[in-house]
Amino acid sequence: MAKSKSGMRKGLTAYGDEEFSFFMRKAFVKAMGYSDDALDRPIIGITNTYSGFNACHRNVPELIEAVKRGVMLAGGLPVEFPIITLHESFAHPTSMYLRNLMSIDTEEMIRAQPVDAVVLIGGCDKTVPALLMGAASANVPAIMLVTGPMITGDHKGERLGACTDCRRFWARFRAGDISAQEISEVNNKLAPSAGTCMVMGTASTMALCTEALGMMLPGGACIPAVMAERLRHAEASGARAVAMAKEKLTPDRIMTPAAFENALRVLLAVGGSTNAIVHLTAMAGRLGIEVDLDAFDRMGRETPVLVDLKPTGQHYMEDLEKAGGLAVILHEIKPLLNLKALTVTGKTLGGNLAGALPPWKQDVVRPFKDPIFKGGSIAVLRGNLAPGGAIIKQAAMDQRLVRHEGRAVVFESLEDLANRIDDPGLEVGAEDILVMKQAGPRGAPGMPEAGYIPIPKKLAQKGVKDMVRISDARMSGTAFGAIVLHVTPESALGGPLALVKTGDRIRLDVPARKLDLLVSDAELAARRRQLKAPRPRKEDQRGYRKLFMATVMQADRGCDFDFLAPRGTMRIPRGIKR
Ligand code: FES
Repeated sequence: MAKSKSGMRKGLTAYGDEEFSFFMRKAFVKAMGYSDDALDRPIIGITNTYSGFNACHRNVPELIEAVKRGVMLAGGLPVEFPIITLHESFAHPTSMYLRNLMSIDTEEMIRAQPVDAVVLIGGCDKTVPALLMGAASANVPAIMLVTGPMITGDHKGERLGACTDCRRFWARFRAGDISAQEISEVNNKLAPSAGTCMVMGTASTMALCTEALGMMLPGGACIPAVMAERLRHAEASGARAVAMAKEKLTPDRIMTPAAFENALRVLLAVGGSTNAIVHLTAMAGRLGIEVDLDAFDRMGRETPVLVDLKPTGQHYMEDLEKAGGLAVILHEIKPLLNLKALTVTGKTLGGNLAGALPPWKQDVVRPFKDPIFKGGSIAVLRGNLAPGGAIIKQAAMDQRLVRHEGRAVVFESLEDLANRIDDPGLEVGAEDILVMKQAGPRGAPGMPEAGYIPIPKKLAQKGVKDMVRISDARMSGTAFGAIVLHVTPESALGGPLALVKTGDRIRLDVPARKLDLLVSDAELAARRRQLKAPRPRKEDQRGYRKLFMATVMQADRGCDFDFLAPRGTMRIPRGIKR
C-alpha cells in the first residue's frame, strides 16, 4: 500500500499505529458501501449546509447531487459532510455572533477528515465568509459554490425583492400607509423561491466578491438558485475540485493581497453591502493580510458605482445575470484590477476574463464613464466620535444629509431603542441625529444589523424618509439611509460613542470623511471619569458566549476571534493609483 498523505490515508485517527489506524478507517468506510476502486480516488469533501431553518439553502441537496456528478465524471470520490448553517432570521441573537463558530466548524472538519479538496456550499450572508475563513485556515484546496439568488416576487404588478422591499413595505405599514391585510399579502411574496436575497445585500455582494477573489468558477455569482444553469455550474465546480486536488491549488495561492484588492474593487463597483468590509477583512486576516480602511476609502474615490441594483438602483440579481454577470463589471473596471491574480480555474483573473463573452447592450451595468454614483459607494469616516473609523454607504442615502449637523437623541441600548422610538412623547425632529449605543461586537453581543434605526413613527407619519443615524452596529446590505455604522471602538469598550448625551451636537461631513462630537475635550474627559463599566451579564460567563466575549475583535479587524487570525504581515490595499 502506498503511504501517500492523500485520500483515505490523510489525517489518520491517532491510535499510535498508523497501519492499524488505516485498517480501522477502511473497515468503517467500507460500511458505507465504497469499493477499493472508489477509495483510491481523490476524495472531494462537500459541505452540506442544508437546514430546515435555512430557506436560502433550500436547494443545497440538489446542488450536492450535481457536485457529486461532476466529481465522479472527473474521476474523484465525492463525500458530503455537515457543517452548521446560518440564516439571518434564524440565528439568535444575530448570525454574526455565530459566523466565527461556523468558520471553526469548517476549518476543523476539513482538517479532521481525509479530503483532498473541498467544495464549499454556502449562500446566506454569513455562510460564505465563514466557509472561506475556515477553508483559508485549513488551507486545503477549496472552491466556493453559492446557492444563488432568489427570483423576484410581485405585488399589484410591482416586482418585489427581499429584503429591500421588506423594509420599504414595513416602513409604509409603520407610517399607516398600507393596511395589515396588505402587509400580510406582501409578506407572502417577498421571498418567492429558494436562494439568497436577490438585491445587492450581503449575500449577493459576497457572491460577487468571492468570484472576483478567484475562489469561485467564473459566472457563478449571479445564476438564480432555481435555474438549471446553477446545477451545471455545481457540476463544473465538482469536476474542477478534482483537478485542484491534483494540482494542490490551496487557498493561500489564490487568496492573496492582489486578489483581495480585486474583491474590494468589486465591492465598491457594485455598491455592495457594508457588511462585506467586515467579512473580507476577517477572511484576509486568516492569511495574515490586514485591510487598511483609509486606503480602502481612497480606493473608493476612484471606483464608481456601476451596478444599478436595489437598494441603490432598480434591478435585481436575475437581471444582472441576464446582463452578463460579474464579467461585465470586471470588464468595465479592468484597468483597476490585478489581472494576474490566480483563480480556482488555475488561470488568472485576466485569463478568465479573456475567455468570457464580450459585453452586450444592457442597462444593469453602466459604463465606467457614466456611473450610477461617482464618489465611491462606501466612505470611511474618522473623528473624535470614531477614532478607529466608522463607515457610511454614501451611495444609498439622502444626498441632502452628506453634510449635516444636528442634536443627538441617544438610545442607551437596543432595548431602550425598542421601548422609546415610537413613543409619542419622544422629543425628536427630522434634523436630529439618532444615536444608539451597546450594539457593537461585544455590546449586543454580535454586532447585530440594528444600525438601520427606524425613523420614529411620529416623523415617519409626517413623511420623513431619512435621518442621520449613528451606532456601533452593522446594517443589512438591503437597507437605505444616512446611517453611520461600525463606530470603532464600540461603546461597550468605552469608545467615545459611550460618552454621547441627548442634546449634544454632532457633525457629519461625508465629503471630508469626518464624524465629530462637538463637545469640549474637558467635558468628554469629565464624562469618561464618570463612565460606569457595563453591568456583568450572567450569560457571558459560560460556553461559546464566554469565548466570544473574551476574544472577539473590533470591526476594523473583521470581528474575528483574536486567536484565529495570525498577526497581519501584509497590508492592503497597496497600489491605489494605477
Ligand atoms: Fe439569506 Fe438574505 S436571508 S441571503
